[in-house]
Amino acid sequence: MPQDRIVIFDTTLRDGEQSPGCSMTQTEKLHVARQLQAMRVDVIEAGFPIASPGDFEAVKAVAEEIKDVRVAGLARALKEDIDCAAAALKNCAKPRIHVFLATSEIHRQFKLKKAQDEILKQAAEMVVYARTLCEDIEFSPEDASRTEPDFLARVVEAVIAAGASTVNIPDTVGYSVPDEFGRLIAGLFRDVPNIEKAIISVHCHNDLGLAVANSLAAVRSGARQVECTVNGIGERAGNCSMEEVVMALHTRRDSFGITTGIETRQIVPASRLVSGITGSAVQRNKAIVGENAFSHEAGIHQDGILKERSTYEIMKPEDVGWDRSRLVLGKHSGKHAFRTRCEQLGFTMDNEKVLVAFKRFKELADRKKNVWDEDIEAILWEIDASIPRLYALKSYNTVSGTGVIPTAAVRIRDQEGKERIGTATGDGPVDALYQAIDRVLELNATLKDYGIRAVTSGKDALGEVIVELQTNGFIERGKASSPDIIEASANAYMHAANKLVSRMRQREREPSEPILAQG
Ligand code: KIV
Ligand code: ZN
Repeated sequence: MPQDRIVIFDTTLRDGEQSPGCSMTQTEKLHVARQLQAMRVDVIEAGFPIASPGDFEAVKAVAEEIKDVRVAGLARALKEDIDCAAAALKNCAKPRIHVFLATSEIHRQFKLKKAQDEILKQAAEMVVYARTLCEDIEFSPEDASRTEPDFLARVVEAVIAAGASTVNIPDTVGYSVPDEFGRLIAGLFRDVPNIEKAIISVHCHNDLGLAVANSLAAVRSGARQVECTVNGIGERAGNCSMEEVVMALHTRRDSFGITTGIETRQIVPASRLVSGITGSAVQRNKAIVGENAFSHEAGIHQDGILKERSTYEIMKPEDVGWDRSRLVLGKHSGKHAFRTRCEQLGFTMDNEKVLVAFKRFKELADRKKNVWDEDIEAILWEIDASIPRLYALKSYNTVSGTGVIPTAAVRIRDQEGKERIGTATGDGPVDALYQAIDRVLELNATLKDYGIRAVTSGKDALGEVIVELQTNGFIERGKASSPDIIEASANAYMHAANKLVSRMRQREREPSEPILAQG
């Protein structure tokens, strides 16, 4: 009988990172990995080592630092991929190699050009090979939900016999619906004779908005590992959202009779961290982690909540970490208190960075009466060295008003210390500013998205700006905050622009065809 605890396999750093604009640097991946460890996920999929040297190094770094959680590296069912994953996981306390091979007819015919028997043989042989390098092997028949069920059962049986201890059933293109997906999993439990020797996992994409529902249906049918991402980020419409699936299992334990090991109070911090790093904002009405998830607008609801909370609330906001926002420090706080608070927020920094962050904090405390955790986090993200600082905005100036042509001037310093000035006019001050920056950086980027929101409440709240830029096939997001929204707009643009320039330079250095990432 399947166990009554669900293994939470987090793939934010692999599948999540593959969504456009969500790429993370190694330092950022380490921040997320630490938070996932604090949240007590069971497995962290840290990346796809053969995909690029950067991916390899990031998996290696996570594998070397994270001791309490199993760390997985993805590999196609090819020796060179498996060797590369094993090398990246060499110093890992609890390594797992995740091998995948597509099994559906569409993928066999058009992508792999292989017959069923060839796929079966390759899958089993590569699991046997991977087992010579690592004890814990997971196998995924990619596009399982569109694979002929009898063939899928044969593949699952073969890879378990070959030594896979977890077999993951992906709904790669988010095509399945809950009753059907549940039946697919139940069918495997019925038809695969050795199924009790492995944990059956599911990995659902959200193309029809059903990733969480499909995962839960699979759990009812016996699946005991769920693959998910923080905020549901991932290829296309994303993956099963970690916070939703975990809280569904916790809140409806009466119905599922199953637990997870997740420290649920770390959910909101994890959500904010991932959204902060990727610049991918969480929609306001998103379940569990959206800003409106626990706010009650209707008078009848507010009245009910005041009388008895459970009238309109099925979860306690504090149980998922919503009570963390505190007035932390003021103008007179010292460096030691500031550093301690930074560490509590998950940022461990060397002395040099603490000094820079502390200076920014003092400047902010002069401009803003109340400094909250979110304000501190905003400062820390901007200081993080992982943001490539190829160009620094030394100063800017904008002119706008009724009857005036909006104009901007910027002074930007490059890494060699050379300064250049750019000026431009635009439809508004922000447009003019962005045109001026583009001129200096010779970037010609398209502004795909621009969003602004208040970080905390009150008239003196920091304005947080998130931009999405595209050029030369790359998309990057940038984020910055300031009590002055023009300043936040300029810094968010510089953040994204620096990432874009750094990626374009990297492509010039490593022009080889990238291995297509897997969703
Ligand atoms: O969606 C998918 O099929 C995947 C596999 C690599 C597990 O991400
Ligand atoms: Zn996927």
